Amino acid sequence: MNATPDFRFDGRVAVVTGAGRGLGRAHALLLAERGAKVVVNDLGGTKEGEGSDAGPANDVVREITAAGGVAVADTNNVGEEEGCHALVQTAVREFGRIDIVVNNAGISRFATFPEADAENLDLTLDVHLRGTWHTTRAAWPYMVEQGYGRVITTTSTGMFGLPDNLAYATAKGALIGFTRSLSLEGASHGIRVNCVAPNAITRPSTSAAKPNITTTALDDARLQALRTDLVSPMVAYLAHEDCTVNGEILVAGAQRFARWFLAVSPGYHSAGTGTPTVEEVAGNWNEITDESGYYVPASLHDWTSRFMAHLGA
Ligand code: NAI
Repeated sequence: MNATPDFRFDGRVAVVTGAGRGLGRAHALLLAERGAKVVVNDLGGTKEGEGSDAGPANDVVREITAAGGVAVADTNNVGEEEGCHALVQTAVREFGRIDIVVNNAGISRFATFPEADAENLDLTLDVHLRGTWHTTRAAWPYMVEQGYGRVITTTSTGMFGLPDNLAYATAKGALIGFTRSLSLEGASHGIRVNCVAPNAITRPSTSAAKPNITTTALDDARLQALRTDLVSPMVAYLAHEDCTVNGEILVAGAQRFARWFLAVSPGYHSAGTGTPTVEEVAGNWNEITDESGYYVPASLHDWTSRFMAHLGA
């Protein structure tokens, strides 16, 4: 018995940023194959975010239409607020609505302290964080009005610690706070907001820190296992109307799908009446950091009620 429903997107309009290459391209192809009308956004610059080229976005649109799908190219820069608004307008103008925003566009400027300067931080935040913020914000009123929307943001497991790409890890961390908070805001409007942490070999995988990892025979097998289209089923699921998941972070790639969650340890409760001392903190470090019995707060309110449970209701 096959109980799997056919997840289709007929009548839905999706914007996928950075869809001219890599993961965004794979997401756009899958959504289009399943019936969505897709705005293929891509500025077409280098992986460091320099320059522009309409080629990648146009190529993907050609690929989609050749396969019988419906798509339009958009070359707006999501690193600029007006570009994000113009991108959403492309969807509304061309297809009359906007149901899905996949915030995927990204750049990678490897640098750590003290080399990672203000320009590095600004450009990285502009594309990853502000691009997601402004594109989603531009789409938001349409989604609220229609009482429906699906927003996907893209974080990175670089958040676990990526010292040689500090601004990138910083921006990706910020997106988790954005996703979690906006998911609560969207819930009553029928809007779901979730975050994907992909794992695939694309342009940024070949960096100064990891010199051309695609050249050896061993890497051929790895390349297959790390294909971009192995990430897209998770993105498409989160983009579907049957998906009620909200505010979650999902890791996807290499044929594995997993939940990444933010947890808090029960910790140590200082039962004394006075001010806890530094020595008390140091002396109870094991209990403070013991992971057993951890909880996964659904919101600030949820965390508050657990962290301060000893104070009573
Ligand atoms: P990619 O470099 O192959 O594709 C990114 C696309 O975004 C490019 O086509 C680029 O032209 C476009 N883009 C960049 N800045 C833009 C802007 N300002 N406006 C519009 N388009 C812009 O990289 P990849 O790997 O496909 O990355 C996609 C997303 O996935 C990024 O957010 C990246 O940080 C994230 N990611 C990827 C991982 C991986 O394993 N490949 C791991 C973790 C996160």
